[in-house]
Amino acid sequence: MKLAPHLFGAVVVTTVLVWTVMRTLTEFSQHKELRRPAVLLLWLVTLQLSLGFISWMMRISYASAPQPMFPVVWSTVAHVVNGALVLATCLVLAIQTQRHVAVHPLTVLTPAKVAGA
Ligand code: HEM
Repeated sequence: MKLAPHLFGAVVVTTVLVWTVMRTLTEFSQHKELRRPAVLLLWLVTLQLSLGFISWMMRISYASAPQPMFPVVWSTVAHVVNGALVLATCLVLAIQTQRHVAVHPLTVLTPAKVAGA
């Protein structure tokens, strides 16, 4: 796998996630149903970037090894497993947002309302 496209994707994903977490924490921090998955998401993304970096370092360190070595395997597996946790936490945050955040109904402007405004 080429690392440059992966890093580009990582930057995009991290930007979107940090924006989502910041919006959730600034607007709905009093709701623990939204705050908890948002904070967890922030920790998991930080861990994801760290594990990705470690995995990459391990690959470089063991580049000449005749077979995949244990540190390469564990760091890559941890990175991928944590990626799945990031995805699951995003899903929880999306479901909780849909359940707890009211959507403003479209205001229907009738002629009477316009005249009275
Ligand atoms: C939000 C950020 C990131 C996400 C969601 C993410 C996700 C993933 C996923 C799903 C895989 C498995 C891909 C596959 O097996 O085809 C993977 C592999 C990998 N990632 Fe990341 N990643 C992120 C950031 C990073 C960063 C910052 C680095 C390095 C500095 C990195 C380095 C790697 C490496 C070395 C692999 C193993 C590639 C291989 O098996 O050939 N990742 N990542």
